[in-house]
Amino acid sequence: VALQTVFTALLSVEHPIALAPMGDAAGGALAAAVSNGGGLGLLGGGRGDREWLERELTIVHQRTNRPWGVGFQSWSVERSVVQRALDDLPSAVMLSFGDPTPFADMVHRAGSLLIIQVTDLDEARQARHNGADLIVAQGTEAGGHGGGRATLPFVPAVVDLVAPIPVLAAGGIADGRGLAAALVLGAAGALVGTRFLASPEALLAEAERQAIVAAAGDATERNRILDIARDSPWPERYTARTLRNAFLDQWRGREDDLRADPEALAAYRQAAARRDLGVVPIWAGEAVDLITEATPAGDIVVALAAEAELALAGVGRT
Ligand SMILES: Cc1cc2nc3c(=O)[nH]c(=O)nc-3n(C[C@H](O)[C@H](O)[C@H](O)COP(=O)(O)O)c2cc1C
Repeated sequence: VALQTVFTALLSVEHPIALAPMGDAAGGALAAAVSNGGGLGLLGGGRGDREWLERELTIVHQRTNRPWGVGFQSWSVERSVVQRALDDLPSAVMLSFGDPTPFADMVHRAGSLLIIQVTDLDEARQARHNGADLIVAQGTEAGGHGGGRATLPFVPAVVDLVAPIPVLAAGGIADGRGLAAALVLGAAGALVGTRFLASPEALLAEAERQAIVAAAGDATERNRILDIARDSPWPERYTARTLRNAFLDQWRGREDDLRADPEALAAYRQAAARRDLGVVPIWAGEAVDLITEATPAGDIVVALAAEAELALAGVGRT
C-alpha cells in the first residue's frame, strides 16, 4: 500500500514527496522526472528569469502529463512572471523567502494551489493569513537559502500552529528514514532539495554534482559571504547553506572587510566566471551525508517512498 496523506490527495500524486523548486537547478527535466516518479515536481523559477521559465515550462509539458508546479522567491519575483507561470495551469505555485501577499490572490484566482515555505513561526502565521493551501516548514539543515530553526522541533511546531492546513517538512531529508520521520512529526510529506540536486536530471555542472556526492554533512555551512561576493541582494535574514570552500575559509567572520575590498570582489568575479569550485557557491544541505551516487530522480522518489514504508513498519523494533 502506498503512503497516502492529505498531500497526496490534495495534489493527486502517488507519493508524499515534492521536489524543492531549486532556482535554476530544478528545470523541466527534473520536475517532470519527479512527477513521473509519482511525486510533485516543482520548477525552480527562482528570482523570476522569464527566458529560463519559458524554456523549462516547455520541457515540463513535453515530458509529463502528471501534476507539476513552479516555485518563486517572493522577495524578488514580479507579478507578471508569476502570472506567466499561472497561464500554463500548474497544479501549484510555491512562494518562499519574503512576503507572499502580492501573489496569493492571483494564484488562487488561477485555480492553482498556494504553497508557502516558511522558516520561522511568524512566517507560518503569515502563510496561514495569506490562505496557503499547504505550508512547507523548512529547517536550517536545508541546502540553499533559509533560516535558523532546526527541522526536528520546527516541523511539529508548525503543524500545531497552522492546523488543519497540511504541512510538508523540508531540510535534511534525503532518504526514506527522513521521510518516515517527517510523517511521524505530523507532516503530510517531505519537500526534498539536495538529494534531487545530485540526480542527473538537475541543471548542474558535472563537477558540482560530483562534489555533492563526495561531500559529508560536516562540510556544509550557512553563510552570507557568497551572496556578498556575488553582489546578490538577498534579504539579510536569509543565509545560504553551501559546501565549504577556500573562499569561505578566507572570509569567514570578515564579511564587512569583504564588502570593503574591491580587489577581492573583482578576483572573486573572475574565478566565479571560470566556475572555480574553490569560490562558487555549491548550495547543498546537511543531508549530503546520505547522498552517495547520482541516482535518477524518478528512482529517488520510488525508493524514498518504499524505504519510508519499511521504516514506519519497523519503528520501535530496533
Ligand atoms: C541548490 C538549491 C537551490 C534552492 N533554491 C530555492 C529557490 O529558488 N526557492 C525556494 O523556495 N527554495 C530553494 N531552495 C530551498 C528548498 O526549497 C528546500 O527548502 C531545501 O532544499 C530543503 O532542504 P534539503 O536541501 O536538505 O532537501 C534551494 C535549495 C537548494 C539546495
